[in-house]
Amino acid sequence: MRVMISTLWILLLYCSIITNYSVVAVAVAGDDSKKCEFPAIYNFGDSNSDTGGLSAAFGQPGYPYGESFFHHAAGRYCDGRLLLDFIAENLDLPYLNAFLDAVGSNFSHGANFATAGSTIRPQNTTLHQVGGFSPFSLNVQFYQFNDFHRRTQIFRKKGGIYKTLLPKAEDFSRALYTFDIGQNDLASGYFQNMSIDQVKAYVPDVLDQFKYVVKNIYENGGRSFWIHNTGPVGCLPYIIELHKVKPDEFDKAGCAIPYNEVAKFFNHELKSAVVQLRKELHLAAITYVDVYSVKYSLISQAKKHGFKEHLRACCGHGGKYNYNKKIGCGGKVKIDGKEILIAKPCKDPSVVVNWDGVHLTQAANKWVFDQIVDGSFSDPPIPLNMACHKHL
Ligand SMILES: *[C@@H]1O[C@H](CO)[C@@H](O)[C@H](O)[C@H]1NC(C)=O
Ligand SMILES: *[C@@H]1O[C@H](CO)[C@@H](O)[C@H](O)[C@H]1NC(C)=O
Ligand SMILES: *[C@@H]1O[C@H](CO)[C@@H](O)[C@H](O)[C@H]1NC(C)=O
Repeated sequence: MRVMISTLWILLLYCSIITNYSVVAVAVAGDDSKKCEFPAIYNFGDSNSDTGGLSAAFGQPGYPYGESFFHHAAGRYCDGRLLLDFIAENLDLPYLNAFLDAVGSNFSHGANFATAGSTIRPQNTTLHQVGGFSPFSLNVQFYQFNDFHRRTQIFRKKGGIYKTLLPKAEDFSRALYTFDIGQNDLASGYFQNMSIDQVKAYVPDVLDQFKYVVKNIYENGGRSFWIHNTGPVGCLPYIIELHKVKPDEFDKAGCAIPYNEVAKFFNHELKSAVVQLRKELHLAAITYVDVYSVKYSLISQAKKHGFKEHLRACCGHGGKYNYNKKIGCGGKVKIDGKEILIAKPCKDPSVVVNWDGVHLTQAANKWVFDQIVDGSFSDPPIPLNMACHKHL
């Protein structure tokens, strides 16, 4: 990063000699002086960024979830930290508590509204049905945020402990609003046996609802938005194994091409939605982050990046992908009255990309984070800690 900035400097300095001084101002923008000092993060999403929301409502994913970092169940669908955790670390903020977590939470530096299984559009299924999704869809996450915004200010005025646990009023416009949601909207169609074309056909409706929520957050004072696109779901065992994928529908990496095509279509439309939002929300800085490309390059060139397994889950039970939808990671069976763990974790999750057939490992998340933090995969190409700016 440092090297990149100084190269930029030299390049721009050189340009400025042959053009004019205004270019120098751009070069200065690459400087630390443009750092944003976000006092808080408000996150909206699904399991890719759930730090305890679904667990607070429906129970924790138990051991071995959390084993690589927290060493206990930590409300995360991962062996350790998520992209969002690395984002918080990078911005010098504590990890985010889930809004739904009533125990021990400190919301002075933000709150997390994401829950595993969340969709943008409300679903007509309940969580425990096959292909059931979280009741906390994005519109509900927004209601929660709205209520959080209003009520924290009432309580903060009471002073004392409330003052240290709840955010300042002015922090809502200085905060970073992060989004990682949409994957389950695509998956929900697949679970209902819809064709690829049927799923594509409802994507515009999904994105209309997404835009609606971003606009509402803007109206609540939000100004800095950091939006992840959706990942290559065709590389995840739980999607690959849903329906029969024909042999010629797999790419060289072993990912199911049709599912990835839909994800790319969704991302293309999401990017257009972001362009439209920028036109309407004049004071907003909206950064679109292409995590799809980063995750796909990790999966398709895993060996080059120091990983040994790229599709097979670290933690699971049997089959080509060590994934069984009936016996998830941590799954046990009772034999002669004794519980036996049969869906065990692999020995070394730090060299495996996929954790449980649905989610990436902490090691993969860290790798992805390292690629996106400097803005290399963002539009506009703005680093995380400068995401309060529309351009540099
Ligand atoms: C749920 O059902 C309602 C009413 O039939 C429908 O309008 C809506 O599109 C459905 N939602 C999804 C995600 O299918
Ligand atoms: C909550 O977190 C803030 C920021 O990290 C810290 O200053 C404050 O002391 C914490 N409050 C409590 C009660 O732990
Ligand atoms: C989807 O198809 C599978 C296999 O044919 C069937 O078992 C399942 O009930 C179907 N699901 C829906 C929601 O129609």
